[in-house]
Amino acid sequence: WSVALLLIAGAYLAGSIPFGLLITRLVRGIDVRLHGSGNIGTANVFRAAGRGPAALTLLADALKGLLPVLAGSALDLPLIALFMVGLAAIAGHNWSIFLRGRGGKGVATSLGVVLGLAPIPALIAIGVWAVAIVASRYASLASLLMIASLPPVLALMGYADAYWIFALAVLALAIYRHRANILRLLGGTELKISTTFGGHA
Ligand code: G3P
Repeated sequence: WSVALLLIAGAYLAGSIPFGLLITRLVRGIDVRLHGSGNIGTANVFRAAGRGPAALTLLADALKGLLPVLAGSALDLPLIALFMVGLAAIAGHNWSIFLRGRGGKGVATSLGVVLGLAPIPALIAIGVWAVAIVASRYASLASLLMIASLPPVLALMGYADAYWIFALAVLALAIYRHRANILRLLGGTELKISTTFGGHA
């Protein structure tokens, strides 16, 4: 368990790296927190800085979740430890030590974690995201539906109960971090993905 604890701490630290903030600052010289929704995630980097920086942010934020989980698997850690490593990476992104406890919404990092634990369900969830984003243009709604698809997909595909219970915890974190988005969706005032970065729909 000492290896597991080290990896959990490492995952929290890696998760804490605010790649969206760093990439946007580096590529465009702007603070993404002052644009669009104010979030540091892929959707808002897309609004503030366009396609390239958004793709880089998605990749880096997903790797923060994927790599610690893969490291844990390579070390043959028990499943419960892998789940804790994954949750630590997501928590790092959401409550970053480098941003004094502020952070993002954990969607890309959650996806990376689930890709490491259960690749096929993760790919199905990406499909859910793709359909939802094309149909609605709401990044938040698509992200929430993507994460919400995981518990039933894991259960239907015959994964051990621990997997879908873990996915429910991931969903609970995502819902908690999207509180403001959910209120805006219900009130009809949520930002669509293309509204503040003309031409980059
Ligand atoms: O991944 C973040 C997304 O779900 C919502 O982002 O910027 O629209 O609040 P945003």
